[in-house]
Amino acid sequence: MTASPVGPSFHTMWKELAPIGRDTRTGGYRRHAWTGADADCRTWFQEQAETRGLAYETDRNGNQWAWLGDPTAGNAVVTGSHLDSVPDGGAFDGPLGVVSAFAALDELRLRGAAFRRPVGIVNFGDEEGARFGLACTGSRLTAGVLTREAAYRLQDADGVTLPEAMENAGYDPEAIGPDPVRLSRIGAFVELHIEQGRALDLSGDRIGLASAIWPHGRWRFDFAGEANHAGTTRITDRRDPMLGFAATVLAARRAAEDTGAVATFGRVAVEPNGVNAIPSLVRGWLDARAADPQVLDEVVAAVESAARERAAHDRVEVTLVRESFTPVVEFAHALRDELAGLLGGSVPVLGTGAGHDAGILSGSVPTAMLFVRNPTGVSHSPAESASEDDCTAGVLALADVLEGLACG
Ligand code: GLV
Ligand code: MN
Ligand code: MN
Ligand code: MN
Repeated sequence: MTASPVGPSFHTMWKELAPIGRDTRTGGYRRHAWTGADADCRTWFQEQAETRGLAYETDRNGNQWAWLGDPTAGNAVVTGSHLDSVPDGGAFDGPLGVVSAFAALDELRLRGAAFRRPVGIVNFGDEEGARFGLACTGSRLTAGVLTREAAYRLQDADGVTLPEAMENAGYDPEAIGPDPVRLSRIGAFVELHIEQGRALDLSGDRIGLASAIWPHGRWRFDFAGEANHAGTTRITDRRDPMLGFAATVLAARRAAEDTGAVATFGRVAVEPNGVNAIPSLVRGWLDARAADPQVLDEVVAAVESAARERAAHDRVEVTLVRESFTPVVEFAHALRDELAGLLGGSVPVLGTGAGHDAGILSGSVPTAMLFVRNPTGVSHSPAESASEDDCTAGVLALADVLEGLACG
């Protein structure tokens, strides 16, 4: 996308964000929580707030807020998303929601909108969980579904803990924890997001509304065997943990195919990671999701049983840790119906397998999501895309929604 939807502001913002954390080799983004790229995104957000004369604040969990009106008045209408990325992520997952939020506010000011409710724009910290392994850390802490103690135990691949990383980035980790007062001031939260699938492309619509988020989680499988020489250890003497891991990956695929769930091993760590050594440890992370919570349980149970069976055969120890779990989310029906009315009534309603801060907030606040068409459905990849016209439609839809909710 190159030219400007909705006046110059969207295009300018998009260009400013484009180089931050971008790998020039792949074109993908690495904007991981509390790194330099994340700090640059945060500075950018603060500048956007200040240029527009919005009141800027960072909450106790490092989420950023920009306010038009006084949030302490309550019943605020909040929109926004996240600016962090997965490893080698696309430009749209997250930033589209934040940039569209500022552009929608610009559009409403051009329309001369008179606001009756405070309006907030938020950038939630560490939505993707790319560094510390847990998605939606900022919103989970604020909503109280992640405890401070559990957050303090989070570590990145180099052993840096979340509080250390926050402190290194100039934030006070002592402050982190639930923020019910802040949440109680929000009357509605609307997150705009690129669609991470092809439903809108198939139906020929630019914009959709979210119905629900599938239950999903992350499970870590550790296969512990015995390191030994790749050339001299007889096959029958080996305790090779790679075999259990391989069987487990295939079992995950089979379980997904059998049930309509999705199951992915996208990350693996091998020790000692030498070409000519049988590994001592293979650690793999399963991401599994399904529309039905019971099906998800069955998929994980089937994968675990395959792991244990193969590990026993190879005299390998296997341990399974559930690192995170997000139950099914049903977005507020009344708010969704209100948005459908504001958007003209014929907007498709879609379920999704992707996690979002909106899903975390929906436990405390009436919450809705707007999806913008993604022509290939590709996401969490540099190939993620949306057309300029569809981004414009997204900004205008968000402006209509904010106007209806905050000015009507
Ligand atoms: C985050 O985007 C997720 O769904 O994993
Ligand atoms: Mn994502
Ligand atoms: Mn996202
Ligand atoms: Mn997400």
